[in-house]
Amino acid sequence: MEETSRSISPSQVAVLLGFIPIFVAWIYSEFLERKKNVASLKAGKHSDVNLVVMENEPERGEDRSLLLEDGRQAAPTKAHHVSVSSQFLRFCSMDETFLLENRLTLRAISEFGAHLLYFYVCDRTNLFGESTKNYSRDLFLFLYFLLIIVAAMTSFKSHQEKSMFSGKSIMYLNRHQTEEWKGWMQVLFLMYHYFNAKEIYNAIRVFIAAYVWMTGFGNFSYYYIRKDFSLARFAQMMWRLNFLVAFCCFTLQNDYVLYYICPMHTLFTLMVYGSLGILNKYNEIGSVIAAKIAACFLVVILIWEVPNVFDIVWSPFTFLLGYNDPDPSKHTYPRLHEWHFRSGLDRYIWIVGMIYAYYHPTVERWMEKLEETETKVRIAIKTLVVAIALTVGYLWYEYIYKLDKLTYNKYHPYTSWIPITVYICLRNFTPSLRGCSLTLFAWLGKITLETYISQIHIWLRSRVPNGQPKWLLSIIPNYPLLNFMLTTAIYVLVSHRLFELTNTLKIAFLPSRDSKRLIHNMVTGVVISVALYSVSFLFLSVPRMLV
Ligand SMILES: *[C@@H]1O[C@H](CO)[C@@H](O)[C@H](O)[C@H]1NC(C)=O
Repeated sequence: MEETSRSISPSQVAVLLGFIPIFVAWIYSEFLERKKNVASLKAGKHSDVNLVVMENEPERGEDRSLLLEDGRQAAPTKAHHVSVSSQFLRFCSMDETFLLENRLTLRAISEFGAHLLYFYVCDRTNLFGESTKNYSRDLFLFLYFLLIIVAAMTSFKSHQEKSMFSGKSIMYLNRHQTEEWKGWMQVLFLMYHYFNAKEIYNAIRVFIAAYVWMTGFGNFSYYYIRKDFSLARFAQMMWRLNFLVAFCCFTLQNDYVLYYICPMHTLFTLMVYGSLGILNKYNEIGSVIAAKIAACFLVVILIWEVPNVFDIVWSPFTFLLGYNDPDPSKHTYPRLHEWHFRSGLDRYIWIVGMIYAYYHPTVERWMEKLEETETKVRIAIKTLVVAIALTVGYLWYEYIYKLDKLTYNKYHPYTSWIPITVYICLRNFTPSLRGCSLTLFAWLGKITLETYISQIHIWLRSRVPNGQPKWLLSIIPNYPLLNFMLTTAIYVLVSHRLFELTNTLKIAFLPSRDSKRLIHNMVTGVVISVALYSVSFLFLSVPRMLV
């Protein structure tokens, strides 16, 4: 074990070789920028041009992040027709105007590198200590309810946006609401890891199912309405889901499936994309959508329910989806066991999400009609819906949720839609309930991917490649609560920065409306990565051959 954790892999060397020149270029570009500003100040107040440039600079940065918030893209700027290979040459020759133009991108990459270094230091060196997990239900609930109270007091918001269909009432399952939903589940999911709260295992399984449900729901709505199946959109989606995790795998020698949420969401996102993208001209026809959904069910049944098919389908991808827990007690599992287990638990729920998304406009119209009906009828119908939801929820809790973990997992793929549906009913039965949300949780809901990945390294600790995060990072030894506070603050801050950096770099490298530049960038990226990897590989094997 010690051996593996000490040895260095080619991908680690490749990342380092890639980062060093960029870091140097960034420092140099900051120096150039400063020199330019000093020069323009000295030139006096006559040079209006320079002043305009200086004033615009920070604004452009802000504009970009504003656009990010909307999920829209900044239009490709002037570098439009300069081919990428010449951009690369300009980088190699440290061309000054190139460095000045791309200073913010270089800065973003350098900051990203610094965060990865922090990951490495926390998880793989003994600079900081570690402590063991400790569960106290009282403390767990105290912290969670405290957060809810703080969120309610500081971030309660009542949204006024009306339905996009008729503009009459507030849409159910709106963006604020789904993000808040992700947020409060994520906090429980993370605290479950931090405190090793085994008793809520089954609830955590439901939360993960709800995320996968949202993947189906959100992506179906998006592709069904926007009909954007472009390469740019596809590349951006893959970047969003896998950029950070890829670099964590490279720098920390981890397998992809250690961060199982990422391959799982990537797979189900691809399935939604594929099922809507194939023959998308006919998506307007109801029976085509029905056939597509039936096809999704058939594919899932074939792969996960028919014996041996799973192995046949996935074994060619073992290099990507294989995982071995370094814990000796789990060595007997086959390489694809973890992937089978994780992907299998939520194999159906993304399709349920797609169905709910398809019927969303219809249900929305019913709900609008309901709001217009006579008070007595309306209250009667709502009471009935709530009563049914509560009864079903109670029965599910009593007969499914309370089962022991192993038995529960057997039923989970077929029953996880029940608590999800019950939650949706209860969360949306009055317009004011639909319209309000706690923005603190919605904020956390936006960075779930980053908090999920970072927790393993800078909040918890896994110590060795592919290790499960069994320990807690300890910066202040002997003060568990103070340490919890400090590590949590740093961890949430870093996660939020990583979220922003992922977006900044996505915009820099994956332009939306310039497919030629997009393809150039992708090819250059692959060529540079392969070159760096080969060099690192040779670099590491030469000493070994000499010995
Ligand atoms: C599609 O699903 C992925 C994975 O959950 C998510 O990150 C992304 O935001 C979804 N896209 C849309 C448009 O909802």
